[in-house]
Amino acid sequence: MKKTIVAFSRVHPSMLLPYEEKYNIILLTPEHGDIDAQFRAAIHKAHGLIGGNRRLGKVELESAKNLEIISSISVGYDNYDLDYLNSRKIMLTNTPDVLNETTADLAFALILATARRIPELDAWVKEGGWTKSIDESQFGCDVHGKALGIIGLGKIGAAIARRGRLGFGMSVLYSGNSRKPDLEQELGAQYVSQEVLLRTSDFVCPVVPLTSKTRGLIGTQEFAQMKQNGILINISRGPVVDEEALIKALEAKAIRGAGLDVYVREPLPDSKLFKMRNVVTVPHIGSATEETRNAMAARALGNLLMGLEGQRPRDLVNPEVLCGNR
Ligand code: DGY
Repeated sequence: MKKTIVAFSRVHPSMLLPYEEKYNIILLTPEHGDIDAQFRAAIHKAHGLIGGNRRLGKVELESAKNLEIISSISVGYDNYDLDYLNSRKIMLTNTPDVLNETTADLAFALILATARRIPELDAWVKEGGWTKSIDESQFGCDVHGKALGIIGLGKIGAAIARRGRLGFGMSVLYSGNSRKPDLEQELGAQYVSQEVLLRTSDFVCPVVPLTSKTRGLIGTQEFAQMKQNGILINISRGPVVDEEALIKALEAKAIRGAGLDVYVREPLPDSKLFKMRNVVTVPHIGSATEETRNAMAARALGNLLMGLEGQRPRDLVNPEVLCGNR
């Protein structure tokens, strides 16, 4: 009997073509109507799921009695109920590494756009405001030579730090669970407590996965510790930052601004944040380039096929489900 793959997002049909003989492939596409309804109709057939950006837990997966593996096209896996997957012995894989540089590019785009007020001044020019030279109230702040604070110097954090240090002559501070002697040597990165990082950095960038420990990592107390000229850049996950506390800090001018790719609720059609001139907002596009999303999909497909073919997938998030079987 052929196994069934349900591809629910982020996979180009051409990637699946070579596997059509071996697998039943159900590709959910907006052309066929509501994706949620298609998902509910297909899920009971699935041996493997591939896609990204969908919350999956008991309710969504209960009828998926055949399900062996979910291959997520994302590095973060906070969308999945890991305890439930483990209880069902369903493998979960992600796509680390291939998005590090692209996500770091986006972090830097937000640093520059926020510091130099690019979207705000772009809108001003296009709206016909540029009838005389800008005045001081429209000046931005420097990026080069400033202090870049990275909370969680993993691979994406390191890619951001490299851009800051090597491209912009910034000093790099970092906090987190472990010291990174290699990066200290390569970039002169300084390991400090989170409080020292917040008090001394011009740009504060949390780059941590969303877990019970990192939820609300940056809240009222942390904003109070930041420099008044400090800028928060969030490309990790929305709930890592207490959004209400962020809004209050911005309103009170306790910090200079924020560059945001992620939010507590996504998608987010409206928010106070969208009305603030000193906030640059983009709609969760950290990894969203053609090249990187293709690389992520290819890596996820590899993981999926390994799982369905009885091998141990390369990027297995929950090896405990295998109990030494592969
Ligand atoms: C990820 O891979 O986790 C990015 O946030 C894109 O979804």
